[in-house]
Amino acid sequence: MNAAVVRSFDRGPQYEEIEVPEPNSPHEVVVDVLAAGLHHFVRAQANGSHYSSRGENGLPLIPGIDGVGRLPNGQLIYFVSPDTSIGTMAEKTIVDLRRSLPLPDGTDVVRIAAAMNPAMSAWVALRRRIHFEPGQKVLVLGATGNSGMMAVQIAKLFGAGQVIGAGRDQERLESLKSLGADVTVSLAGDLEEATKCLGEAASEVDVVIDYLWGQPAALTMLPLLKKRSDRSRPLTWIQIGSIAGATAAIPSAALRSANFQLVGSGQGSVTMAGYLAELPSLIDTIAAGKLQVDAVTCPLSNVAEVWDAPTLAGERMVFVPAVRE
Ligand SMILES: NC(=O)c1ccc[n+]([C@@H]2O[C@H](COP(=O)([O-])OP(=O)(O)OC[C@H]3O[C@@H](n4cnc5c(N)ncnc54)[C@H](OP(=O)(O)O)[C@@H]3O)[C@@H](O)[C@H]2O)c1
Repeated sequence: MNAAVVRSFDRGPQYEEIEVPEPNSPHEVVVDVLAAGLHHFVRAQANGSHYSSRGENGLPLIPGIDGVGRLPNGQLIYFVSPDTSIGTMAEKTIVDLRRSLPLPDGTDVVRIAAAMNPAMSAWVALRRRIHFEPGQKVLVLGATGNSGMMAVQIAKLFGAGQVIGAGRDQERLESLKSLGADVTVSLAGDLEEATKCLGEAASEVDVVIDYLWGQPAALTMLPLLKKRSDRSRPLTWIQIGSIAGATAAIPSAALRSANFQLVGSGQGSVTMAGYLAELPSLIDTIAAGKLQVDAVTCPLSNVAEVWDAPTLAGERMVFVPAVRE
């Protein structure tokens, strides 16, 4: 079979012919992969920078953490890869059936492969990491990316009373309004100024869904808390992504001067059983067209050429092996 294979963290995956992998347990089965999304996690997996990386010991590896496939009996499934070197960017891969869910025939496989990972981030965070109640106000920090755009829509679906979206790209910010954002705040230009404005606009939120971390997060905290009408009212900051910096200098006053709680959400902070319990309703929501999904497809055979090519903001690349139906 053909697959995207990473042999060194210095070089993106190359399209190679390799042996079809073999199942190792009664729960495992070989599936035909129909579509697999190129998520940030997958890039980090392929360059060795993800926190789950086993370093050189994990090489060679086939990247890819989830996808849509077809079982030998013809059943269409969405699946999350077991944490091994055999990922989803291949014509065939190993699926642990306990980490898979059936999809109805006729499901748009590209849409599911593009949307599940970015959408899962806010969905699982709001359902599993905090107690979110309809009517609560939400700030999405990094709302112009794929995951942030999903977070805006999911917060609204869950009944948020107000959703504020913050990001740099003006066009994407504008488009958030049609997805449910009540207010948008630009982070472009001088970051100190921008975060001051954001703090004022978002001073009454109950939840922050943060895809940026780094300076934008650190600089927003105090301006937001200073303007808050009642600092004893809980504010939960959910750390999900760190596209603007892996570390953030959190002002100590933020933790002392307000009822400020910081939690994270991602692989490890939520059990696999917790994720799997949420996935059927998320799949239904995506399949029913309730979330806007911007996917671009690429044949898997072009993986080496497109791996480092920039995609348009908000678009998620999905690799499709040649055998796609
Ligand atoms: N924990 C989880 O479960 C989970 C799941 C999915 C994603 N994530 C993480 O969430 C983050 C975002 O993922 P994504 O899928 O939304 O990625 P994406 O679609 O590539 O979007 C990233 C966006 O981040 C913005 N950005 C980049 N650098 C920035 C900076 N220095 N300051 C402000 N904005 C910046 C850009 O928006 P502008 O164009 O407006 O600048 C860009 O469009 C990544 O770190 C990803 O790993 C975590």
